[in-house]
Amino acid sequence: MLSASSLYERVSRVVPKAEWLTFEDDVEAIIDLKRRRNAVVLAHNYQTPEIFHCVADIVGDSLALARKAVEVDAEVIVLAGVHFMAETAKLLNPAKTVLIPDMRAGCSLADSITPDDIALLRQAHPGVPVITYVNTSAAVKAASDICCTSGNAKQVVESLGVPRVLMIPDEYLARNVARETEVEVIAWHGHCEVHELFTAEDVRQLRENYPGVTILAHPECPPDVVAEADFAGSTAVMSDYVATKRPARVVLLTECSMSDNVAVHYPDIEFVRPCNLCPHMKRISLSNIRTALEENRHEVTIDPAIAVAARRAVERMLAV
Ligand code: 13P
Ligand code: SF4
Repeated sequence: MLSASSLYERVSRVVPKAEWLTFEDDVEAIIDLKRRRNAVVLAHNYQTPEIFHCVADIVGDSLALARKAVEVDAEVIVLAGVHFMAETAKLLNPAKTVLIPDMRAGCSLADSITPDDIALLRQAHPGVPVITYVNTSAAVKAASDICCTSGNAKQVVESLGVPRVLMIPDEYLARNVARETEVEVIAWHGHCEVHELFTAEDVRQLRENYPGVTILAHPECPPDVVAEADFAGSTAVMSDYVATKRPARVVLLTECSMSDNVAVHYPDIEFVRPCNLCPHMKRISLSNIRTALEENRHEVTIDPAIAVAARRAVERMLAV
C-alpha cells in the first residue's frame, strides 16, 4: 500500500509541501478506514487535488460517477461531491450505505426547481417529455421522464424521437444543446452559480492576453461564452480534449479544481487559470471524509415512493 508521503508525488505540482503536511494524517486515516469499512470514495472532477488524486477510488464527471456507481461492490460509498450526486449513487445502490461528508453540499441548479414546477410545465406543454439534468433532487427526477448529464444531453434529446422536449432546469445547457439539434428544446430558468459568471468578454480578453490559447467551456456557461470558445463539453470531455489534443496553452472555463486535477498530468501544458469556485463542492474536505467514515455520517436516504420513479429516470438515461 502507498504511504501518504509517497502519494504526495501525485499532487506535488499543484499542492505546496507545507500544505501537504497538514493533509498527511487524514490521508493515512482515510486509506485505513476505507480498508476496514470496505468503503470506496467516489470523487467529482471539482474536488481538490488531495482528495481527487490521493483518496478517491473512482473519479469523473457526473455521468461517469453514475455509471461507475452501478459497478461498485464495496459496502459503503462516500460521495466526495454534492448532494444530488450522492442521491444518484444511492438510487443506483439502494442496498449500500451512501455517505456525504457535508449535507449542505447543494447546487444552485438543484435548488431552482421543484416537482410542483414540473407539474405546471406538463400542464403548459401537454405530452412533451421532461428531460431532467442530473443536477436535481431525487423528487424532481421522479417527476421526470428521463435524466441527462452535460456529457450525454444531445444524445438523450435525440433518443426520444419527438419534435419537442422540455429540458430542465439549466437554461444555458438547454440553449447550448438546442443549437446542436433539430429538436425544439423548451428551457427552464435555472443557472449554475459558478458557470453563469463567465462572460463572452472574458473569452475575448483571454484571447488578447494569451495569444494562441485554446478555450474550453462547460455547457453550463452562457451560450455566448460557448459560442466564442473553441470547444464545449462536460468535465470529462474537457479532460479528454486536453489528453488527446495537447494544446500548448489552455483555459478551462469551469470550476477551479478542474485545472489543478488535469494539470498534474501535463507539465508541458500551460493552464491559464481564470476560474470560479463552487462553494458547495468546496464543503468537502479530507477532514470531513475521514469523519464520515469514522462516524458513518451523513447517510443519504431516499423516500422509497420517490426512489422507484427517480431510479427509472436515471436508468433510462444510462441505457441511451
Ligand atoms: P459534469 O462533471 O458532469 O460536467 O458536471 C459539472 C457540474 O457542474 C457538476 O456539478
Ligand atoms: Fe451546482 Fe454549479 Fe456547483 Fe456544479 S458547479 S454543483 S452545477 S453550483
